[in-house]
Formats: sequence, structure tokens, C-alpha cells
Amino acid sequence: MREPPVKPIEWLGGSVRIIDQRDLPQAETHVVLSEAAEFADAIRTLAVRGAPLIGIAAAMGVAVEAGRWAASPWDVFEAKVARAIGDLEATRPTAVNLSWALRRMERVLDAGRARASPAKTAGSLEDEALRIYREDLDMGCRIGEIGADLIEDGFTVLTHCNAGGLATSGYGTAIAPVYVAHSRGTRLSVIADETRPLLQGARLTAWELKHAGIDVTVVCDSAAHLMLASGKVDIVFVGADRIASNGDFANKIGTYGVALSAGANGVPFYVAAPSSTIDVGIMTGDRIPIEERDGEEVTTIAGTRVVPEGVKAANPAFDITPADLVTGIITERGLFRPPFEIG
Ligand code: MRU
Repeated sequence: MREPPVKPIEWLGGSVRIIDQRDLPQAETHVVLSEAAEFADAIRTLAVRGAPLIGIAAAMGVAVEAGRWAASPWDVFEAKVARAIGDLEATRPTAVNLSWALRRMERVLDAGRARASPAKTAGSLEDEALRIYREDLDMGCRIGEIGADLIEDGFTVLTHCNAGGLATSGYGTAIAPVYVAHSRGTRLSVIADETRPLLQGARLTAWELKHAGIDVTVVCDSAAHLMLASGKVDIVFVGADRIASNGDFANKIGTYGVALSAGANGVPFYVAAPSSTIDVGIMTGDRIPIEERDGEEVTTIAGTRVVPEGVKAANPAFDITPADLVTGIITERGLFRPPFEIG
């Protein structure tokens, strides 16, 4: 496996180093997290973000917390780890990768109860967290290989938000095909929607593609529709935070509009996500919880208020795109075409 284009998270043994994504692109700040509360804070404030990375960070947070209490009696150890799992799960509601990873960690904790050895269970929790990380690397590579077959020489790809290496263990989901196509020598360029309010497209997608030497142009979210209507886009790739069994999916606010425009203009619209993003317990997208974030993210830009004082702002962080707007869903298991029956 070739080296991932970025390393947003690294296990240091007892602690974890992350790129603080709030500081990009002005600064590449690394922060070390050494207790579960710090992981929860990093996830809540989007220092680490993107569905797969949230799951990996939470799993590593549990493993770090387990290591801190490994010399304690079993009851104390178990209570501390269970509390960490609960606190991490409460950070963000939409990306199912978070609860998917935490259920895996919980199963390891439960299995340790019979032996009641905190040190051994802490070791098993570390192994599981690293397994989740490595599996995500593999899934990203596979998604990249499958998706790259859809990118023809000279194509322009449009994407929304950041579903690149920074949102995962390092290869990305929607951007993984772009990396693989580029490495195969396919000439391509990317249009990145800026993605208001937190600008993940302008700040993060543009940053990582520029680092990789891939041509990227940032547009205002409202300009994406003109790009699609005027024949400037050949294919759309987006990521997902949760996919229902019927193929409806949640992704960053604004994705639904991109899907509508792509459909209206005959541009193929693909979703790329690892199987950890599929919620087999949900049949349709209307069951997906939508995170509502602080209105201040909308009323201010870089700390300056841009909305009159006293005016409220709504800030849903995700929207639901119905499956009938989706050309195909790429997971590590293959490319699925409608009608979808995922799971
Ligand atoms: O709020 P964020 O930055 O965590 O939202 C991220 C997205 O919506 C991504 O598109 C999604 O998680 C897919 S990441 C591979």
C-alpha cells in the first residue's frame, strides 16, 4: 500500500497526535490528545472531523482512556471506559461511524469482563482501535481504485465539503478516486465547493489537493449549480455521514442541492463511503438525525459578525439526499447501482 497523502491522526502509544483542522490552511498545527475528554472536545469542535475520522478518533480515545486506568481495580476501570464511550458518543449525532466504532470498543470491553483484567482488556482495546484505523486505510484504498475507473482523462470532478484524506485515516472517500486517478497519470481537475459555514471545501479539500499537486478551483456554494449547468463538470463525487438501506444518505449541508443540479443537468452523481457509514438499522433517510450546530457559525465569518445583532440563524450541519438522485454508491465492496439495497 502506498503512503496516504495526509496523516490526520497518529497513534503514539498511550496518546494520539492529530492535525488540528480548525487551523488549516493558515497553520498545520499538531495537538496531542491524552485523555478521553480531550478527544470528545476535539470531535465536538471539529479539530478532527469527517465521518470515518470521527469513528477512528473516538476508538483511539477509548483506548487511551483504558490505558490511563489499566492499573486500577476492574470496577473502576470498567466505569471509566464506559463513561468515555458515553461521552464520546454524545459529541456528534449524524455520522454513524462514531457509534459503529464505539460499539466495537464496547464489545471488547464486555468480553474483558469475564477475565476482569484491566491491563489485558486495555491491550485488547488498543488492538481494536488500531484495527479500526488500519481497516479504514484499506477501505479508502479500495474505494479509490473502484472510483478511479469512473474518471476519464481530462475530466473535471466536483465535490462538496471535505471527504478527502483529512476526513479519514488518510486516503479519503470521495477524494480517494481522485488520488488514484492522478497516480495512474489520468489528467483531471477538481472543483471544490467552499462549503459554508465552516468552509471545509475551501480550507481543507483545497489544502490537501494542492499538497498532492492536483489542480483545484474553489467556488462559492451557489456557483456549483452554474458549473454543473454550463457543462464544466463531468462527474460529482461526495462522501456521506450515514447511508440508509435504501440509498438515501446524509452529507454536509448543501449536498442535496448539488445532487438536484447534477440530476437536472445530466451529470453523474456518485457517493463514496466505507461500509462503516452504512446504517443497516435505518431503511430511509428521514430517520437520520441531523446535527444542529451553534448559529454563531453562520452569523460570523472569521470572528466578525456579518448578520445584524439580534437576528437568529439556523445551522443544520447536514442534509439528506434521496437515493433517486444518486447514480451509484461506491464502497470498498464495489460499485452499487440503483435500486439500492445496502447493508
Ligand atoms: O462536519 P464535518 O466536517 O465532519 O462534515 C464532514 C462531511 O460532511 C463529509 O462529507 C463526510 O463526513 C464524509 S467524510 C469522508
